[in-house]
Amino acid sequence: MASVYLSRRVPGPVVAELERLFDLSVYDEERPPARAELLAGVAGRDGVCTMLSDRVDDELLDAAGPKLRIVANFAVGYDNVDLAACTRRGVLVSNTPGVLTEATAELTVALLLDLVRRVSEGDRMIRRDKGWIWSPTFLLGTGLRGKLLGVVGLGRIGSEVARLAEAFGMRVAYTSRGGPKEGAAYEFLAFEELIRTADVVSLHCPLTPETRHLIGRSELEAMRRDAFLVNTTRGPVVDEAALVEALREGEIAGAALDVFEREPEVHPGLLELENAVLAPHVGSATHETREAMGMLCVSALRAVLVEGRCPENAVNPEAW
Ligand code: GLV
Ligand code: GLV
Repeated sequence: MASVYLSRRVPGPVVAELERLFDLSVYDEERPPARAELLAGVAGRDGVCTMLSDRVDDELLDAAGPKLRIVANFAVGYDNVDLAACTRRGVLVSNTPGVLTEATAELTVALLLDLVRRVSEGDRMIRRDKGWIWSPTFLLGTGLRGKLLGVVGLGRIGSEVARLAEAFGMRVAYTSRGGPKEGAAYEFLAFEELIRTADVVSLHCPLTPETRHLIGRSELEAMRRDAFLVNTTRGPVVDEAALVEALREGEIAGAALDVFEREPEVHPGLLELENAVLAPHVGSATHETREAMGMLCVSALRAVLVEGRCPENAVNPEAW
């Protein structure tokens, strides 16, 4: 039986399936293992299942040793993995695409609605018990009908957000590093044009060296003063300090964030702003999706370690 290390508590049915297939060792906690504990955990394994907060680099691969064949990353994003280092050593890396598309798109829309209709702000107001009363001008928000949604990165999640936004009567445009996408149902705009014109800019690109701080001071200045920013991809795509400044100065109208530059830390400036909606990285956090993500990790581990084949969800099939 192949030996597998799982670096976090995951839904029960996923653990049961891993236990059936492998000699399994689990770090059964909601908090991440300390680095030393993670390195000790992976030692001598044939496969590991890692989370987005576990850095998979040469150090970890050395700690795992030469038997390691696969890193099944429990996330669609794999910016935590040094892919080149894995490929060099013939270690396959898999991710969990597809199964979290709806959950993440739904959360994106939830945050957008919260932001433009000031739901969390009103919730805070009630809880603080400062007194409130209905009035024709009290806590006015912004409607979505007719507004332009600018999608940055028209992958699975970006496309699903666009589809949902259309149901609210929004117009949709997108930008994409590769230029216009064949068969895309929406208008393509160059990145600069999109951030200059969109009423809502929603980020759905992966975190790569090119997209780190994609939204910084000059991009925030270029955005409309009545525009909203939504980030449900990875924190470092936005320069958080520049965002705090822009929100304070009213350079943009508001921001909704599910991800942060230094999770679980959040820039203290954001905590004081009423025009920021903050969520603790829960984009894919539904019962259905987390189980499906786990099962995709299981199927990748099984493909490599039991069936001896390259899994469909390998992100570096060239390592096979
Ligand atoms: C979650 O953030 C993921 O990339 O799956
Ligand atoms: C995620 O699966 C994406 O392609 O956006």
